[in-house]
Order: sequence, then structure tokens, then C-alpha cells
Amino acid sequence: MAKLNAAAEKQIREICSRYTDEKTPLMMILSDIQNEYGYIPLEVQEVVSQETGISVAEIYGVVTFYSFFSLTPKGKYVIGCCLGTACYVKGGQQVIDKFSEILNIKPGETTEDGMFTLDALRCIGACGIAPAVSISGTVYPKMSVGDVPKVIEEYRKKEGAA
Ligand code: FES
Repeated sequence: MAKLNAAAEKQIREICSRYTDEKTPLMMILSDIQNEYGYIPLEVQEVVSQETGISVAEIYGVVTFYSFFSLTPKGKYVIGCCLGTACYVKGGQQVIDKFSEILNIKPGETTEDGMFTLDALRCIGACGIAPAVSISGTVYPKMSVGDVPKVIEEYRKKEGAA
């Protein structure tokens, strides 16, 4: 297992120390780590285990169960395609397949340049505008397969201009 550098280890221990008074601190600790560190690899889980006394097996189970948590670094832009029932019947599967084809990654993967991660989501509460896609917090309503290249281009241009 890779070793964490001292600064990262300190950051993880500091996050764990925020919840020492909580009876069930694990979800809060993991949420903070995901938000601040970006992902939760095994070496981070090891430190959380030392701090909380919760086994690595249990932590690993939680990290892999919830799609919000990630074992690997996510891309700069996270493309979440809803595959809940309303979105699925309106073509959500074709939309995610198109993202997959253009970016050359499967759901759960990140492009080599670290720019995009593709995720399949369950209902995100926007069924009225199905099929819905959320990209790093921006929701795109009624996405069609034809919209996918434009949306990717929009983000690539944004990066080019940055
Ligand atoms: S099923 Fe996609 S937003 Fe509800």
C-alpha cells in the first residue's frame, strides 16, 4: 500500500478529530475527506481506521457502497448522467453511452487528462426535465444524444480559455 505524505496524513487526522464526540462519525469523516482531499484511497482509509478504531474492511465497504465516495481521483468535471426510471425511459442510457463513446471512458472512469469523470446516477430529483445530466453542479435539462458533443466542447473551450 502506498504511504501518504506527512501533510496529507495530518489533514486526514485533523478531519477525523472534528468528530470525536460523535457516536457514528464515519459518514461525516468520509464526506469531509471526499470534499477536501478529493478521493478516499486505501492508505487514507488506513489512517481513518487508526483514528476511529473502525476496521478498514468496514470503511472500504462504505466507500464502495456510496457512489458519492471515490477510491480514485475524480476529474475536474464530474459528468453525472441520471439513469433513474424517468430519465432512462426518455433516453438517459443513450446519452451516457454517447458521453462514454466521445470521452472513451466507461461510467466510473476518468479521462487520462484528468478533465472528465463519467458517473451513472440514480434519480437526482429532476424527473420533470428528464433525461437530466449534472456536470459539477450544473444541471442540463432534457439532454439528447445530439447535445452531448456540444456540451463536451463547451467544457473543453472553457479549459482552453483558462
Ligand atoms: S429519474 Fe432522472 S431525475 Fe429523476
